[in-house]
Amino acid sequence: MALVLTDTLSRPLRTLRISVTDRCNFRCPYCMPREVFASDYPFLDRSEILRYEEIERLVAIFVAHGVRKVRLTGGEPLLRRGLPDLVRCLARIPGVEDLALTTNGALLADLAKPLKEAGLQRLTVSLDTLDAPKFKELSDSEVPLNRVLSGLEAARSEGFGPIKLNCVLQRGINDDEIVALAKFARQGGYILRFIEFMDVGTQNGWKLDAVVPADEVLAKVSEVWEIEPVQEPLAGRVADRWRYRDGSGEFGVIASVTKAFCGGCDRARLSAEGSVYSCLFAGSGVNLKTALRNGSSDSDIGAIIANTWKRRDDRYSELRGAETTPARKVEMFHIGG
Ligand code: GTP
Ligand code: 5AD
Ligand code: SF4
Ligand code: SF4
Repeated sequence: MALVLTDTLSRPLRTLRISVTDRCNFRCPYCMPREVFASDYPFLDRSEILRYEEIERLVAIFVAHGVRKVRLTGGEPLLRRGLPDLVRCLARIPGVEDLALTTNGALLADLAKPLKEAGLQRLTVSLDTLDAPKFKELSDSEVPLNRVLSGLEAARSEGFGPIKLNCVLQRGINDDEIVALAKFARQGGYILRFIEFMDVGTQNGWKLDAVVPADEVLAKVSEVWEIEPVQEPLAGRVADRWRYRDGSGEFGVIASVTKAFCGGCDRARLSAEGSVYSCLFAGSGVNLKTALRNGSSDSDIGAIIANTWKRRDDRYSELRGAETTPARKVEMFHIGG
């Protein structure tokens, strides 16, 4: 049996999150505030981002080093032209057991079907509010809430299995919608995850006061429905899962601020320009693109990946607030959360 690659904290490499573009059609203030990401922002050029064949090659190498779960992210991944072609190639790689995508849903109505046909297994859609004017403010875009909702419907009718909804809660902004969002998800058969607002990147004006702690979410939901935890090991887990005792599904809380889950973190991140990051909060990545483009062999590239993982000691969320907080952090849209 192949040796399991582990980092300095004995965590295996199991998940690869791939950002396929740094562009987005939304300007959520917590991720890409419009003042910073204006029309003249220097997004990556086509020649700078990895081509699909390059991503496919890297995924096969990552799989040889333990990866079993692959998630496509962005920016907004559905903006990348021909995305179903990439999905088709990745779905065929032996060892890719789980192929998922996180999207803002704006382009899902047209893409749900081709993505499903290409072999995408799971889908997560961001949904922070059910209120149309608030949605406009939170996404800072011209895309109406209804378009996301019809994208969700389209995905549901494709039979993606339980679709997840991601809701980033912010104090005073959408914390009054916890029960309404939970009700919407229960009725639609979606698995809603309430996410604590994180201090990702350096541009989102994060403050601890804006975080709505997971315990508060659980208290609010349990005022309305009886709930119980779904026990699961920590390895690879982001959300704490809870089920409704009446049998009508489950929801989750992602408590990266109040209950860090670094202990089981098996995730590497590949940026659109081909660098690998060992943490969502890393200051820099390790360049793989040069090796991909200078004729290096798979085993040379595999050695860079293995060395990066073996040296890995990241546990940012556990250390948050301590002196070790890095001054430089990669921006969220570069590595897709
Ligand atoms: P599955 O559990 O496989 O369905 O995916 P996921 O929940 O890990 O992926 P998704 O893209 O939906 O991310 C949900 C939220 O968790 C987002 O806010 C991510 O930024 C956050 N998240 C995902 N992975 C990590 C991580 O390694 N560290 C931290 N701190 N947050 C993460
Ligand atoms: N804190 C927590 N989650 C965030 N996301 C984007 N920015 C943040 C943040 N600052 C979420 C998006 C998307 C997922 C990939 O990450 O809403 O659902
Ligand atoms: Fe785009 Fe997602 Fe960032 Fe919003 S959170 S700006 S939808 S990448
Ligand atoms: Fe993993 Fe870094 Fe997130 Fe901790 S903060 S769970 S180490 S990505």
